[in-house]
Amino acid sequence: MESIKILGGQSLKGSIPISGAKNAALPLMVLGLLTDEPLVLEGIPNVTDTHSMRHILEGIGTSVQHFSKRFVLQTHHTTSLQASYDDVRKMRASFLVLGAMLGRFGLGQVSLPGGCVIGVRPINYHLEGFKALGALIDTSNGDIIAKAPSGRLPGGHYTFPKPTVTGSQNVIFAAVLAKGESRLDNVAIEPEITDVITCLQKMGAKIEGKGTSTLHIQGVDALSGTQHAVLPDRIEMGTYMVAAALTRGDLIIEGGDLALLPHVVECLEQSGSTITELGHNRIRIQGHDRPQPFHLSTAPYPGFPTDLQAQFMTLAALADGESTIVENIWENRFMHVAELARMGASITLDHHCATIQGKPHLTGAHVMATDLRASVGLVLAALVAHGETTIHRIYHLDRGYEVLERKLQNCGAIIHRIGSQEEFMTDQHDGVSAVAS
Ligand code: EPZ
Repeated sequence: MESIKILGGQSLKGSIPISGAKNAALPLMVLGLLTDEPLVLEGIPNVTDTHSMRHILEGIGTSVQHFSKRFVLQTHHTTSLQASYDDVRKMRASFLVLGAMLGRFGLGQVSLPGGCVIGVRPINYHLEGFKALGALIDTSNGDIIAKAPSGRLPGGHYTFPKPTVTGSQNVIFAAVLAKGESRLDNVAIEPEITDVITCLQKMGAKIEGKGTSTLHIQGVDALSGTQHAVLPDRIEMGTYMVAAALTRGDLIIEGGDLALLPHVVECLEQSGSTITELGHNRIRIQGHDRPQPFHLSTAPYPGFPTDLQAQFMTLAALADGESTIVENIWENRFMHVAELARMGASITLDHHCATIQGKPHLTGAHVMATDLRASVGLVLAALVAHGETTIHRIYHLDRGYEVLERKLQNCGAIIHRIGSQEEFMTDQHDGVSAVAS
């Protein structure tokens, strides 16, 4: 199993290009199921989650060709309206194919996703939404089978009890090809959803209310192909901004959009970093002294993103005072706390609230990646720690960060990947840690 070794203490300087957003790329790829014409997507990040999605779509019958980051997807006919347990357990976003299959073919079967390391992650709102549009839902041997009784959904009205990112996308996918009209309330408004709706509109979908929590969707008989560039990854951008803040560095972030990270910018400035917009989607971030403490609570967009919580935990671990972080989205998204403690961080947990007493420095250690964002939080800690850190089980990182080592090396980090080595912990949690986020 591969690991990453980092020798801490370098102040990062240089420029980092931001990749296409993984969490927009995955649902955008699923749109390839909704039309028989070619869908051309630019800027698909080369990460293992997009490889997994490609594999799932090919299993259904989609032809996927790619030329570097340009993907051409086309689904003339299907070979199987099914995504297996193996696919869904590797990546929960694969559950998104159910809404698309139901919308276009009136039938789909996807394995019920299990729990995962960051929380239970139910799919009840996805299923209630499908039912509200007229679908019949059945379970068989751990699979969910969704069916439109007369081959095509009539459409309907659904209010999400709370905003869900993939739940909203799944129900939208089912509604765009329904016979009638649908209204969805309390839809999540993350920028990745807006990006997907923009692409759907280019394909001919009739959706009103983009960017708001109420959508009116008039089903159409067919969608066409189109060309679309994936939104830049705001979580990757926030991650590298924290790297600059922590290492007292000076980074130019190329291709990101600050407007997509309102609370994050506020928090970084409060902790002492200087952020300057240079125009043409270039942002400069300079870290100065030891970060000042801060308080944050994660919330659905436009609140503070849960996907940046672990990175800010590392920032708080080095702050000059006490910070608090409240995690409101995932009940178990504090797996990085124990690993940061191995590096000397002082963090106490009380249910979903972490209190962090900042330390002047952390020290290198062997630590274990547990999920995508926890892993990158450890990379950030290692960049500033005294001495060398080895991060194990970095397959989590490869799911969502494109060429992370190269991007950091180009800015002066001493980081490299090493091959398989002996396990320093038992493998008893392998089944859990392999489950997708
Ligand atoms: C998406 O997950 C992201 N994944 C996650 O990013 C992200 O953490 C999350 O949204 C929140 O922003 C993708 O976009 C592929 P939710 P998703 O449904 O859609 C509850 C990363 O690191 N809920 O918005 O699965 C749920 O338990 C990943 O890139 C229900 O109760 O999250 C949670 O508390 C990890 N019933 C809340 O809603 C449901 O049917 C929000 O979850 C669905 C969700």
